[in-house]
Amino acid sequence: MKPPFYITTPIYYVNDVPHIGHAYTTIAADVLARYHRMTGRQTFFLTGTDEHGQKVQQAAEKQGVDPQAYTDRIVTRFQDLWQRLTISNSDFIRTTETRHTTVVREILDALLEKGDLYENTYEGWYCLFDERFWTEKDVVDGNCPDCHRPVEQIKESNYFFRMGQHQDWLIKHINANPNFIRPESRRNEVLGFLQQPLGDLCISRPKSRLSWGIPLPFAKDYVTYVWFDALVNYISAIGYLADDAKFKTWWPASIHLVGKDILTTHSVYWTTMLHAMGLEMPKTIFAHGWWTVDGEKMSKSRGNVVDPNAMAQEFGVDAFRYFLLREVPFGQDGDFSKTAMIQRINSELANDVGNLLNRSLTMVERFAGGIVPPPRPSQDRDLEREIKEAVAGLKDRLDTRLGALEFHRALEEIWRIVELGNQYIERSAPWKLAKDPTKKETLENVLYTQMEILYWLALFFYPFMPTTSEAMAKQLGITIHFSDPVLATTKWGAFLPGITIAKGQPLFPRVETKPTQPEPEASTKQAAAPETPQISIEDFQKVQLKTGKVIAAEAVLKSKKLLKLQVDIGTETRQIVAGIATKYAPEDIIGKLVVIVANLKPAKLMGVESQGMVLAAGDKEVEGLLSVIESVEPGTKVK
Ligand code: MSP
Repeated sequence: MKPPFYITTPIYYVNDVPHIGHAYTTIAADVLARYHRMTGRQTFFLTGTDEHGQKVQQAAEKQGVDPQAYTDRIVTRFQDLWQRLTISNSDFIRTTETRHTTVVREILDALLEKGDLYENTYEGWYCLFDERFWTEKDVVDGNCPDCHRPVEQIKESNYFFRMGQHQDWLIKHINANPNFIRPESRRNEVLGFLQQPLGDLCISRPKSRLSWGIPLPFAKDYVTYVWFDALVNYISAIGYLADDAKFKTWWPASIHLVGKDILTTHSVYWTTMLHAMGLEMPKTIFAHGWWTVDGEKMSKSRGNVVDPNAMAQEFGVDAFRYFLLREVPFGQDGDFSKTAMIQRINSELANDVGNLLNRSLTMVERFAGGIVPPPRPSQDRDLEREIKEAVAGLKDRLDTRLGALEFHRALEEIWRIVELGNQYIERSAPWKLAKDPTKKETLENVLYTQMEILYWLALFFYPFMPTTSEAMAKQLGITIHFSDPVLATTKWGAFLPGITIAKGQPLFPRVETKPTQPEPEASTKQAAAPETPQISIEDFQKVQLKTGKVIAAEAVLKSKKLLKLQVDIGTETRQIVAGIATKYAPEDIIGKLVVIVANLKPAKLMGVESQGMVLAAGDKEVEGLLSVIESVEPGTKVK
């Protein structure tokens, strides 16, 4: 039995509206929490808000309201966003709650008693924004080395935590536990930082300067430094000093997820605080990278702060969740752009998965009356074996990938099944089997296999795209209790035949981009103008012609002429809209080898994107599609 899994996000400051940075960490934590629950591991997922400190006090003052009223209002923005993004947190801690403030005060008392805190006069440079002191050598031209704002000289009496005395122990602990601070590069950074003598930490602020904080229990003129207060949330929320059994169940945390900018506070302040309290260390502190937006730093002053609500509204919650974790390796910085998101949505979701799902459901409807047939002896044993092995081994591979927080790789592993599924349909060609009554059982087996693949995909997608998985299950005609340990075993053959499917709306719609060639049906005319000028061979060579196999076809709504085709051109599947509906019904051309113009700029025809053109003979009306008389692979160059 694996030990319980306890994962945390940073608690977010309530002086600001939530942005993609906040959404990123919380979605990542959600994926891990959901995954571990599905594998049967007891899981606790904590997030919350950091509500004390100067920034919040100032933000409240600006609005002329009392800080508590201000935080009560702003906290709902985070809570509402998490609901919208389907975040499955087990608890939400606010640092203004009594269950938290009491624990902070008790810890302070205990540390004072042990001699770990002392009072001293301090003179130094203070950064108002970062709410921390800097030494003379840290300050760069009168500015804070962290946020680059001017620092102020401040002399005051304060309370200090004897952090420095834990330095040697901390270095040893980091060295002895390779998974303690990750990724590797960040671990080295912290070890580098610890080569300098570690000073003590000022943990109080005089009320005369800042009143919005937890009062020190032993000195009425002071409040607690916001970081000393905030970090304690990780234990106050799980019953430290209040509910022993609960605390013992969850502590030590399995993973603290943080952004790279708050790694020092977690890996140095928090760990030494815990050590002083005599508590165990968290297993892993993982620092992820930062998002830029269209290549620029995200900031209010630049006006480019990405609102997760707007993204969810425009692209759908699950597509947004998918993109954030697929686009960039988790420890690295990455760039957010709508263009990149649209590309991934259209190619990986709409094309890869959407096609697999829609084609499979359509075929069960068309060839089996909408009822999933039973599995039968297979025609393509090799590919089926590969699929079964890929599914059966996927859970172990995800354990490894997600254990290393390689979300993008985990998704790649899942997409391998999507690819195999698409390949399987093309190779089995159910539309051909359907025409041959002697192939009835083979067809049944293919349809069953397609459904089973989709069943497993619904399961494996769930941590990343929970709403989509639920909708997929519905379309497959089944109920999956995703909160049960459904991934505890992954054995092929779990999908039951005889189920009536319920094909509904497409779950992975394409995002339509602005048309580059706003021509309606005109470009479907393949006839040349009567006086066509001669062109050079160079001109001709500009046109890239390729063979492609039509793997799906359907009519374009409200058009008598247009068919929407999915054409496999070896390296990718293209969506091509062709004016051939007067000549061909969709089922006539599925499986046919055609010739396409592969480098034609995408255009929209009747609102549907077309990424190329199929060649056909005929003047006003299409008389026949072009093909190749020998059987060649899709994607072969035509010259
Ligand atoms: N309140 C503290 C954390 C206390 S934890 C005991 C705090 N809050 S914050 O709201 O300012 O930031 C929260 C998180 O957002 C940090 O992990 C930070 O790294 C992350 N991000 C802020 N901007 C970001 C990007 N542009 N990209 C990715 N994450 C970013 O710090």
